[in-house]
Amino acid sequence: MRRYQKTDFPLVETRRHLETGPIVLVTSSWRGERNIMTMGWHMMMQFRPALFGCYIWEGNHSHELIRRSRECVINVPTADLVEAVVAVGNSSGRSSDKFATCGLTAAPATRVKAPLIDECYASFECRLADDSQIDEYGLFIWEVVKGHVASTVTEPATLHYQGRGQFRVAGRTLDLSERFLPQNL
Ligand SMILES: Cc1cc2nc3c(=O)[nH]c(=O)nc-3n(C[C@H](O)[C@H](O)[C@H](O)COP(=O)(O)O)c2cc1C
Repeated sequence: MRRYQKTDFPLVETRRHLETGPIVLVTSSWRGERNIMTMGWHMMMQFRPALFGCYIWEGNHSHELIRRSRECVINVPTADLVEAVVAVGNSSGRSSDKFATCGLTAAPATRVKAPLIDECYASFECRLADDSQIDEYGLFIWEVVKGHVASTVTEPATLHYQGRGQFRVAGRTLDLSERFLPQNL
């Protein structure tokens, strides 16, 4: 195994190595208005119930819609959608309908009012489980209440943001499951 000689690294650039993704598109809906934002800062927090945490900046229009509705859908795009991902993340839904401007199709969800995105291979309907960290950290803690995944997609080429406008694309799967303790699978 190779050993690395490392040098001092600027803390502000930590994201270049720890921001794992996948990049997701978060949809929201409040009083007839709908929106989409691009999001990279998130993590799974628990298996059962499935809890998911994410950071949503208060300056984003989505923050207001999501905070009021206490619902959202987390949609997972693949690399073929990178242009839409960048367009969604670099425009505001305050003045335009990003579904129309970014060429994405809204489909009804079953448990929440926010829409699924048809072009994303996976979508997860979420309800707010804990709002206690929003004021301090912008951290929303969600319970995933319904999942929709296209079973035909076995190795999704998801996007993983590195900052500076650069993405990595997920590649092949390495399956080492036989060497895992059951509790770690
Ligand atoms: C690759 C990428 C990742 C982003 N990740 C986040 C994030 O994790 N949290 C966040 O609040 N904004 C994030 N943003 C910024 C929002 O997507 C952006 O401000 C968006 O325009 C918000 O739209 P809205 O004002 O219509 O809600 C990201 C943008 C890009 C391009």
